[in-house]
Amino acid sequence: MQLDLESCGVRSFRESDAAELARHANNHKVWLQLRDRFPHPYTIDDARGFIAFAGGANPETAFAVTVDDQPVGSIGAVLGEDVERCSAEVGYWLGESYWGRGIATRALVSFTEYAFATYEVERLFAVPLAGNTASCRVLEKAGYRLEGRMRRSAVKDGVVQDQLLYAIVREDGIFARA
Ligand SMILES: CC(C)(COP(=O)(O)OP(=O)(O)OC[C@H]1O[C@@H](n2cnc3c(N)ncnc32)[C@H](O)[C@@H]1OP(=O)(O)O)[C@@H](O)C(=O)NCCC(=O)NCCS
Repeated sequence: MQLDLESCGVRSFRESDAAELARHANNHKVWLQLRDRFPHPYTIDDARGFIAFAGGANPETAFAVTVDDQPVGSIGAVLGEDVERCSAEVGYWLGESYWGRGIATRALVSFTEYAFATYEVERLFAVPLAGNTASCRVLEKAGYRLEGRMRRSAVKDGVVQDQLLYAIVREDGIFARA
């Protein structure tokens, strides 16, 4: 898969991405906003394992976010199961040196279109920690709507926190663009 966007892209991972992926992922500030299954420290073996997982999945659901074709982060979806098989959770992160350039918004807008075109889902959602203003803004700019606050739903780095529930459904149609 390859989506070419203005100044960045989203594409399938390559084995040769491991070192750059690990370099960007190995950041406490990135880890602080993600689930604990995202390793910290993040080693090149972690990157190799993730790239192998991403490449082996059918359908493919985890992708590199790129600048000049080099990986600077990742975006993907976890497809729901059982009665929630019509939903998927989106997730994304970028290396800190690439924050604040609109890259995550462009990647999410594009990945959202790709996901509705590719997966049999009616709904995409995300549950950022309530203090993650940048991610909430990215979701809003990409057309996701705030549906609620999940009070004291997550513990990260020893701190119990609220999560905000954002979602977009297929019938929302034309997605907002940054
Ligand atoms: C969240 C993340 C992906 C955003 O990536 P990004 O490319 O910097 O995002 P964009 O540049 O597209 O948009 C960020 C928006 O948040 C705003 N923003 C960033 N930090 C902010 C803050 N502390 N307070 C208020 N707004 C903030 C920016 O101004 C921008 O909005 P604007 O275009 O209206 O000015 C990146 O910060 C990241 O990887 N964080 C760690 C991992 C993470 O949080 N992943 C998401 C988990 S739900």
